[in-house]
Amino acid sequence: MRGKRIRTAGLVICMSVMFLCACGRDWTAPGDKVHVGVTFYDQSDTFLSELINCFREQLDSLQEEGLDIVLTVRGASGSQQTQDDQVQEMINAGCNVLCVNLVDRTDPSEIIELAREKNVPIIFFNREPVTEDMQRWEELYYVGADARQSGVMQGELAAEAVRKSAQIDRNRDGRIQYVVLEGEPGHQDTIIRTENAVNTLKKNGIELEKLSFGIANWNRAQAQNRMMQMISQHPGKIELVLANNDDMALGALDAYQKLNFTETALPVFFGIDGTGVGLEAVLDGRLAGTVYNDKEGQAAAMAKLAAAIATGEGKDDISFKNKRYIYLPYTKVTSDNAGSFLGETPSALQ
Ligand code: GAL
Repeated sequence: MRGKRIRTAGLVICMSVMFLCACGRDWTAPGDKVHVGVTFYDQSDTFLSELINCFREQLDSLQEEGLDIVLTVRGASGSQQTQDDQVQEMINAGCNVLCVNLVDRTDPSEIIELAREKNVPIIFFNREPVTEDMQRWEELYYVGADARQSGVMQGELAAEAVRKSAQIDRNRDGRIQYVVLEGEPGHQDTIIRTENAVNTLKKNGIELEKLSFGIANWNRAQAQNRMMQMISQHPGKIELVLANNDDMALGALDAYQKLNFTETALPVFFGIDGTGVGLEAVLDGRLAGTVYNDKEGQAAAMAKLAAAIATGEGKDDISFKNKRYIYLPYTKVTSDNAGSFLGETPSALQ
């Protein structure tokens, strides 16, 4: 029991502020305590880890504005059962708002029931529940991004690259032989990104030939394995790699490096996310482009909404789509603007 309490205490990041800052909202009203419980599907996911760091920073700023905040963060190690248990624990520990990145986006029933019973609103994020589940209770919200837009942007970036550089069509057959590296099957960002990237390339007049695809669950090592297989099935033929995220685009590149391909024999690689490693790779030309998944914007929206829900103040200032959804826009990233996302000053301004 004592061990459990110590463990729990160790996992809880406690932030408490007594004084009001001169700027920002007045958070002194009684009940202005925000106890946020966050659970996310897997600790090894690069984008999610970065997003959660941003969320911590956002809560820190709210704390500086005088809000009394307690934050508990748990990773669910890819198990829905573990996540359900974490939600139960966090509700028992007194969380008054939950942020849930579902392990299985089609299976939130247990979590919704637990939360509804104790009247603890849920902000789902990044892994969007299906509409029927979102309709089960009016205190369910979603913060994320429009998967379709990221696919379209990736397709536009790839089309532009193909138009600009004749060398991409290495066999000069007027068609681009491509493969796709996909995230988890059933994830909204997998299906929709792939579909829209390919359709956008076609709409832009690029002739395509799909050689293969591999499912790599957002993971760099899995992408390397899948890519090794695809390279051996289609030796020297792959001209373009469309990956549903940056980690998988980098895993594909790892495969070529492991096989000692020279730079001129490489296909072009496109990712999505703009993670730290992804942006570095775009900046130095290893990836031809990526699409920025606005983690700062998503984290800010989650923090603002969590504070509004828990304090009962400020929800009217938030603009929702369909009353309970918030989608942040994506941005195209090439070597021209990658540095600005890493906080670098563009060379023209130096
Ligand atoms: C996507 C992101 C991936 C992965 C996934 C997890 O939006 O692009 O890298 O983090 O979410 O749900």
